[in-house]
Amino acid sequence: MKKIKWHKVADSSASIHFTAGNVAEVEVEGKKICLGRFQEEWYGFAATCPHAGAPMMDGYVDGACHVVCPVHQLKFNLKNGRDKNGDGYALKTYAVEKREDGIYVGVEEGRFKWF
Ligand code: FES
Repeated sequence: MKKIKWHKVADSSASIHFTAGNVAEVEVEGKKICLGRFQEEWYGFAATCPHAGAPMMDGYVDGACHVVCPVHQLKFNLKNGRDKNGDGYALKTYAVEKREDGIYVGVEEGRFKWF
């Protein structure tokens, strides 16, 4: 079983600043991770697109729980990172928890070596 390490990325929801496209960027151990907001849920995902490395911070969350890449508009499911069209690209995803004392992102231990 994979071990998840939780990282506090903010003291409260109010200190996370989402774009008009409902994407925000935070840092975990010096690495950028994006957050996406869909309805009441928040999701974590890699800051760069697996297709050609575009900054996902410039993308947006659509009305069907996908984050849309700003360059070639591939759509990735926020829950599992799979691309909507089945082209075989997968966006890394991370669990996000809103706790009483802040916002936490869960990363599998050893995961950062694949960034
Ligand atoms: S760089 Fe994201 S879809 Fe091409």
